[in-house]
Amino acid sequence: MNAAAIRTQFLRKEFGPKVAVADLTLTVQQGEVFGFLGPNGAGKTTSIKMLLGLVAPTAGDGRVLDAPLGNVAARAKIGFLPEHFRFQDWLSGREFLDLHARLYGISNVKRETSIKELLRRVDLQDASERKLKEYSKGMLQRVGLAAALLNEPELVFLDEPTSGLDPLGRLIVRDVINELRAQGTCVFLNSHLLSEVEITCDRVAFVKNGSVIREMSLRDRIAGDSPPNVIEIELVVKNITPNLLRELAQFGKNVQQLNGAIHLQTENEARIPELNRWLVAQGVDVYKIGMAKPSLETLFLQVMGEDARAG
Ligand SMILES: Nc1ncnc2c1ncn2[C@@H]1O[C@H](COP(=O)(O)OP(=O)(O)O)[C@@H](O)[C@H]1O
Ligand SMILES: [Mg+2]
Repeated sequence: MNAAAIRTQFLRKEFGPKVAVADLTLTVQQGEVFGFLGPNGAGKTTSIKMLLGLVAPTAGDGRVLDAPLGNVAARAKIGFLPEHFRFQDWLSGREFLDLHARLYGISNVKRETSIKELLRRVDLQDASERKLKEYSKGMLQRVGLAAALLNEPELVFLDEPTSGLDPLGRLIVRDVINELRAQGTCVFLNSHLLSEVEITCDRVAFVKNGSVIREMSLRDRIAGDSPPNVIEIELVVKNITPNLLRELAQFGKNVQQLNGAIHLQTENEARIPELNRWLVAQGVDVYKIGMAKPSLETLFLQVMGEDARAG
């Protein structure tokens, strides 16, 4: 039986009176692309740092790659893109990667080929001889991603990898994550960006105030799935005016446009045929109407809101 990539129990971190992470109890399987999702200040970065052995837990326990937290042999099999990093900015992109590859103890022959390949993957081959101090924020983020992959890790931690990236940069990160998944590499992705996580992750945990408040698989979300009492309606229409779009609010809440479709939420299935009749009467062309998978945003608002009401 394979050990989990990450398994923690009641991990906690206090900074003086401040509880950064209250209770991190989590299992991430090998090969999984796992999203750790929560607002700023929720404790995501502190959690990653405890898993890496960079911050000592106040309480609790965990194992990463079947070794105690911070174990050196396990760390050699881990890649890490920190949220805030400081690079050796007097080096060129290639020199920077070469330095880090040497620190990993990668052989001369291997270094040259893997650095070339990684520079290509993050689309920096043309900038490889330029100094990092001349790189944009997005380029630094990409070279940092390349550095996190130098040791062909079994497990990669990415802390807000797309913050500061333009759409092309985000696409590169997404492609790299998909390649990692295909290779069976486990990815632990910290993010406060729902759309990013929605596209890339197999499973997510929602974190708030230092605690995991819900875990769920994104792959087997189905139409009519949780949350209870919320029916997500998906609508594909043409000829809808801004006025009519506003009037959709009478049929449900959280009207939003997603990938060319309109989503809204209702509590009652019977609203679907009513909405359909109304649209047709207004002269709108209806191409599709029905129940949809709840979007991650819907789930997020639900989970965070539920928790706020409970607390
Ligand atoms: N070194 C530290 N000293 C004191 N407080 C800290 C420290 N690091 C983080 N915190 C606090 O702990 C909470 C969680 O921070 P962090 O883990 O960075 O959250 P996230 O990554 O989800 O934004 C925040 O309130 C933050 O201010
Ligand atoms: Mg953070």
